Amino acid sequence: MKKISAMVVGCGDRATVYATEGCKNLKNMKITACVDPDISKLEMMKREFGVPADNCFASVEEAAARGKICDCVINGTMDRLHVSTTLPLLELGYDVLLEKPVCNNEKDLLALRDAAEKNGCRLFICHVLRYSPFYRKIKEVILSGEIGNIVHINTYEHVGVFLTSVSFVRGKWSKQSECGSSLLLAKCCHDIDLICWLNNDTTPDTVYSDGGRNFLIPENAPEGSGTRCLVDCPAKIREKCIFDAKPMYLDNCLLPWYPWQCTGRDYREITDEEKESSLKTYNPHGLCAYKCGGDIADHQTVSVRFKNGSYATHSVTLSSFRDGRDIFIAGTEGEIDGRLDDGKITVRHYDRKTSWYNSRVIDVNEDEETAGQHYGGDRGLVKDFVNTVAGGRTSISATTINDSVNGHILVFRADESMKKGVPVKFDKSGD
Ligand SMILES: NC(=O)c1ccc[n+]([C@@H]2O[C@H](COP(=O)([O-])OP(=O)(O)OC[C@H]3O[C@@H](n4cnc5c(N)ncnc54)[C@H](O)[C@@H]3O)[C@@H](O)[C@H]2O)c1
Repeated sequence: MKKISAMVVGCGDRATVYATEGCKNLKNMKITACVDPDISKLEMMKREFGVPADNCFASVEEAAARGKICDCVINGTMDRLHVSTTLPLLELGYDVLLEKPVCNNEKDLLALRDAAEKNGCRLFICHVLRYSPFYRKIKEVILSGEIGNIVHINTYEHVGVFLTSVSFVRGKWSKQSECGSSLLLAKCCHDIDLICWLNNDTTPDTVYSDGGRNFLIPENAPEGSGTRCLVDCPAKIREKCIFDAKPMYLDNCLLPWYPWQCTGRDYREITDEEKESSLKTYNPHGLCAYKCGGDIADHQTVSVRFKNGSYATHSVTLSSFRDGRDIFIAGTEGEIDGRLDDGKITVRHYDRKTSWYNSRVIDVNEDEETAGQHYGGDRGLVKDFVNTVAGGRTSISATTINDSVNGHILVFRADESMKKGVPVKFDKSGD
């Protein structure tokens, strides 16, 4: 297959993961242009992906002024910039792979959908989990009719202590007032999307949601704690605190591209002394986790009634101890349950011989498509997107904008319900 050419808009963590998947692993893509106001990112794109200097732009407007110069776009800007950086490119006829969440309101969501349709563009949303062999297999079992009709889907997202801290407490998704996304939108738009996709014989009718920020608040900080771990928090408090910055960021640092982003430098080039000094001074990851001013929920539960009488529930808790996702699906003729990080799916049926049940386990760990981030989801998404841009058919996981609208609207309605304390009808504009 001929390689497709792509322009990367927002050359940060996520966009470069997709670019690497396409160019270096799948080898069906080449990056021929890039946009980022940060000149060091443009330099990195020249170095790592061989982007010609003439095609490095500081803004989407500058890139758009050149017309359509490649086959498609990978947009990995932060949440608030998705709409303004995508619309001008759809107008030029680009197919776009856009990071989730699409945006934080229904008007913009439908405007993007309509712009893609009007200009005949394929707009794919990065709901990567749909492409992981784990969820794809679950979808296949449902489509095969093996568990009959869906009665209830229950999902649970456990956000581990490290991810909680680095993203939702001290990180760039900690304040809805700044990043524009709630916890449900930033983290669980994947889960709500999965629920809508797995149960897409029907559409949501009503949603109720409850939750809030009740645990990671100043009142719950250990008595006598300081405001910055390495500056004014006593050792005897730190050694019991799960959020102590030293083990988390200096000793282990599981996702190193996050806590050092505020230095403005590549995390691989920062010395230990510079890291420690940043945590003692300006780095938000050095702040007390209870007192650093985040405003998103730290736990939330969502309950959805679908038009055909089936239900779904989703819960999320920050600072769980084992990071991961569970799913249980009750059907009229069988049930499915599994845990994403185990990679095992159990399918059960009623057993007439014993009046008990029988089960079989599907193990996706051996599936070579689980390679890469998000349990194989990132690679699967890029493969499907490239294939579609090249004129091929989309897969059952396809996350086009049309497929992603219901999940996003359900998130908006759930957050509205949590705020108002009442169930909210799903109906979208134009329904
Ligand atoms: N699909 C997933 O599972 C998943 C996982 C994590 C993050 N995300 C989403 O991916 C997106 C990107 O997150 P990230 O951590 O890679 O961000 P990042 O901060 O690493 O990258 C964003 C890049 O955009 C650049 N930028 C800023 N303003 C710009 C503009 N006007 N035009 C073009 N570029 C601009 C920044 O300089 C930066 O290089 C977010 O929306 C996030 O919510 C998705």
